[in-house]
Amino acid sequence: MKAAVYYETGSPDVFRYEDVPDPSPGPGALLVAIEAISIEGGDTLNRLGGELTARPHIVGYQAAGTIADVGAGVDRFAIGDRVVTVGLNGSHAEKRVVAQSFAWHIPDGLASNDAACIPVAFGTAHDCLFEFGRLQPNESVLIHAGAGGVGTAAIQMAKQAGARVLATASSDDRLERLKPLGLDDGINYATQDFVAECRRLTDGRGADVIVDSVGGANLQRSLAALAYRGRCISVGDASRTPTSALDISSLRPNNQTLTGYFLGADLFLGTRAYGMVAEQIDAVAAGRLQVVIDRTFALADAAEAHRYIESRRAFGRVLLIP
Ligand SMILES: NC(=O)c1ccc[n+]([C@@H]2O[C@H](COP(=O)([O-])OP(=O)(O)OC[C@H]3O[C@@H](n4cnc5c(N)ncnc54)[C@H](OP(=O)(O)O)[C@@H]3O)[C@@H](O)[C@H]2O)c1
Repeated sequence: MKAAVYYETGSPDVFRYEDVPDPSPGPGALLVAIEAISIEGGDTLNRLGGELTARPHIVGYQAAGTIADVGAGVDRFAIGDRVVTVGLNGSHAEKRVVAQSFAWHIPDGLASNDAACIPVAFGTAHDCLFEFGRLQPNESVLIHAGAGGVGTAAIQMAKQAGARVLATASSDDRLERLKPLGLDDGINYATQDFVAECRRLTDGRGADVIVDSVGGANLQRSLAALAYRGRCISVGDASRTPTSALDISSLRPNNQTLTGYFLGADLFLGTRAYGMVAEQIDAVAAGRLQVVIDRTFALADAAEAHRYIESRRAFGRVLLIP
């Protein structure tokens, strides 16, 4: 099969489009012929400096397609089923193998392109807001990186839950485009101090829930924007500057909480998250939630697609099509 591979991590230039051996499904696993690959925020970070599991390495968490073969003991799927799949790597290819516990049926009528974008971004957004953020109607939430995959999902969910929705992005234009999804107040962090602006917009209270997928120095500042009893969820390092040290001394006097979140942990260690993700897929299929797709590239142009995302022009998801 063809795959977008790399031998060393680094800039998008590391990608090579090469022939690699077809994977084959072991017990309990599915071989999927990929139709659409969603480039996740974590894919660009892994390409930049993640672990290489093999040389060449095939990056990528998430892809949708049709089952071409099944391993022994597969009982929930059959050849020909349409599925969206999640794995620690392997999405940037024509085929991938995943355990059946990391695949979800795609409902009839839901396009593979849309399905490809759902599990990680929508599952993460839902868990950050509700399972770990305990967001309540009439509370306020600040969603960082609002124009990203997690952000565009979280804005819709928070609005539908009856919350006041604040989000950050790097330009006024990006914030304007978030309004139809449910954004109440946008904060352009390139021109505004998001802590001061968050406090101004909440009459000094701060945000009840903050979803911080930016990390680095941003995370420390998020703690300063929390309300009394506020909950901050640290979910990512989109800033490309991991948080090295954090001063949590402001949390205790204000009964605040900082929680780390990794969807993979809940998918690996229990069954709740699998069902929660299935509900997000159903919500998109039913039209209650919307996948935001910016544009598609051919798989052979993976380098160009990653470059486009890192140029900060992508709004929502960018897809690769094998
Ligand atoms: N823990 C988990 O389970 C989990 C699950 C999903 C995602 N994540 C993490 O959450 C983060 C966001 O994921 P995503 O899929 O929403 O990513 P994405 O769609 O690629 O969006 C990332 C956003 O980050 C913003 N950003 C801020 N600083 C940036 C920088 N230096 N370079 C590039 N973008 C920057 C960009 O918006 P502006 O230009 O408007 O700032 C961009 O829209 C990633 O770090 C990802 O690894 C974690």
